[in-house]
Amino acid sequence: MAVDCGVNFTGIQFENPFLLSSAPPTESESNIMRAFEAGWGGVVTKTIGLHPVVNVYGAKAKFMRTSPETAAVSMKKAPNSALHSSWNWELISDKPIDWWEPRIRRIKDAFPNRVLIASIMAGSGNDKELHHWQQLAEACQNAGADGLELNFSCPHMDRKDMGSNIGKDQVLCSVVTEAVKEVSRIPVWCKLTPATANIVLEAGACFRGGADAIVSSNTFPSLPLIDPETLDFEINVDGFVSSGGLGGPAILPMALAKMAQLTQAFPDNSFSGIGGISDMSQALSYFMLGCGTVQVCTSAMLDHAVGPNVIKRLNEQYKAFLEKHEASGWNSLEDFRGSRRDRVVLQSQIRRPGRSDYNAGYEMVEGYATPAEADAEEAAR
Ligand SMILES: Cc1cc2nc3c(=O)[nH]c(=O)nc-3n(C[C@H](O)[C@H](O)[C@H](O)COP(=O)(O)O)c2cc1C
Repeated sequence: MAVDCGVNFTGIQFENPFLLSSAPPTESESNIMRAFEAGWGGVVTKTIGLHPVVNVYGAKAKFMRTSPETAAVSMKKAPNSALHSSWNWELISDKPIDWWEPRIRRIKDAFPNRVLIASIMAGSGNDKELHHWQQLAEACQNAGADGLELNFSCPHMDRKDMGSNIGKDQVLCSVVTEAVKEVSRIPVWCKLTPATANIVLEAGACFRGGADAIVSSNTFPSLPLIDPETLDFEINVDGFVSSGGLGGPAILPMALAKMAQLTQAFPDNSFSGIGGISDMSQALSYFMLGCGTVQVCTSAMLDHAVGPNVIKRLNEQYKAFLEKHEASGWNSLEDFRGSRRDRVVLQSQIRRPGRSDYNAGYEMVEGYATPAEADAEEAAR
């Protein structure tokens, strides 16, 4: 039996499970066309809104690097340095919805078998803003989008009713998702911010509103460093900076931890993983935790803007991985998806030399079993 690199995620068929995430690589028709030519299974468009967008002066995104010689983390280019992260304070697409509509149509006409998910964003908290979400959703689905991704995650919106401020509020998560589901005939994914205490709560709220999948992570709130020479932030306008978003390799382990929480809480639901992916080794961690697709931004931005080499490598490595494990019955993602999800356990459940000496921080009660032993006995009964 030949291996099958395709996946079905939330009812949408993908040629491969690799998508470009909502960001500069998907900000234009020509970029998206090039991305499909290069082999990406899908794209999520740069987030489309109804409110006018004006970005800050100068650079909207920069890359931080580190080197073994100096151990510095800096936006300054240095020899022998390796990528640490991306940092951005870019807002959503500055192009209006009527600019996007004909382009979505043309892209889908040219690539009917590739998946285009439209990322959308509006405000919340009143009927007018909920109607804005519905307007955007209907415009994108009528133009031919295969699915919608609701941006509850952009970390640099000042408005309290937008972006990650929605993703921090369970009620808003539910209400907005429900409003979009009322008008959508296509799957609805919610992209959550990682900047909350317990992402499981907001994910639950989205699912209650009818979400078909949760997408995580967007960038983590962060500041650039202060340059020891100039004493200014490495990226600033007139000396000022605001909290921006960290992406790339630096966020990979943190994004995986968020994903493990999500997939353990909702093992039967659908998840798309993002954060620090540039090859199969990283994508594999997301798949084995339970993700049905993964998305890529930073590494694609650094590879001819849309990641032709990144997707070539991902596709080759993914096929080789399936072929390597074919004998053990893994022919497609469904055969191993989530297979390491249950390996993330409580501290007290990790084996240690003198197990009876560790009581998970609880007082030992003489004559009684430790909580872990008591749990085991209870489970065995
Ligand atoms: C410059 C830049 C712009 C971005 N714009 C958006 C956006 O409009 N909508 C969105 O949902 N995420 C946006 N993101 C977040 C990415 O889609 C992605 O979630 C994040 O960068 C983590 O993935 P990575 O580690 O592969 O970069 C942006 C990221 C960057 C670097």
